[in-house]
Amino acid sequence: MKVQEARYVMSNSDYQKCPEPDLPEYAFIGRSNVGKSSLINMLTEKKSLAKTSQQPGKTQLINHYLINDLWYLVDLPGYGYAKVSKVEREKWETMINDYLHNRQNLICTFVLIDVRHSALTADLEFMAALGEAGIPFHIIFTKADKLKPGQVANKVEEYKQTLSELWEEVPPMFVTSAEKHEGRDAILKTIET
Ligand code: GTP
Ligand code: MG
Repeated sequence: MKVQEARYVMSNSDYQKCPEPDLPEYAFIGRSNVGKSSLINMLTEKKSLAKTSQQPGKTQLINHYLINDLWYLVDLPGYGYAKVSKVEREKWETMINDYLHNRQNLICTFVLIDVRHSALTADLEFMAALGEAGIPFHIIFTKADKLKPGQVANKVEEYKQTLSELWEEVPPMFVTSAEKHEGRDAILKTIET
C-alpha cells in the first residue's frame, strides 16, 4: 500500500470527542519513549507529522492522522513513565484505556517494545489486559538499528519464548527501525489486509 496522503486531524483527551468512528483505525501504544510517534512519521514518510522527543512523555493526547482519506493512524501517550506525577500518570492511563476499550472502529492495536529490552512486567501486564478485554494486538519491536541483526533475532526469539510460556497464542511480531526505515512495508501490508 502506498501512503499518498497523511494529515493531522485532531488531538483529544476524550475518546468520545475523537473523529466520527466511521473509518478503520489502528493505534500505536507502548511505554513512553519507545518510538510510537517516530514510527508514525516513518510509516507516513513525514518527518514531523507526529511530534517526537528524546524526553519521555512527549505525546500527551490521543492524536488522529487520516491516511489516504481512508483510515486513521492514532498516536497515544505512553504508559509507565515514572517522572510524571501519580495523578498525571493515572489520568493518561484512564485516557488510554477508555479509548482502547470503547473506540468502535479500532481494528487493531500495535504494542511497541524496545527491541533491546527483555520482557518487562509493565508491557506483559498491559498486553495481558488487552487479551482479556478481547482487543486484538500485534507487537512491533522498535529501534532495531541499536543492535546488530543477530542480536535483534535473539531478542525476538527470547521474547517469543517468554510469551509462549505465558499465553496459548503469541501475537504477530514485526521488527522496525524508524531511523533506518525498516519494517515499513510489512506493517502497511498488515493494515491493508
Ligand atoms: P512518548 O510520546 O514520550 O510516549 O514517546 P514515543 O514513544 O512517541 O517516542 P518518540 O517517537 O518520541 O521517540 C523517542 C526517542 O527515540 C526519540 O529521540 C527518537 O528519535 C528515538 N527513536 C525512535 N525510534 C527510533 C529508532 O528506530 N531508532 C533510533 N535509533 N532511535 C529511535
Ligand atoms: Mg510520542
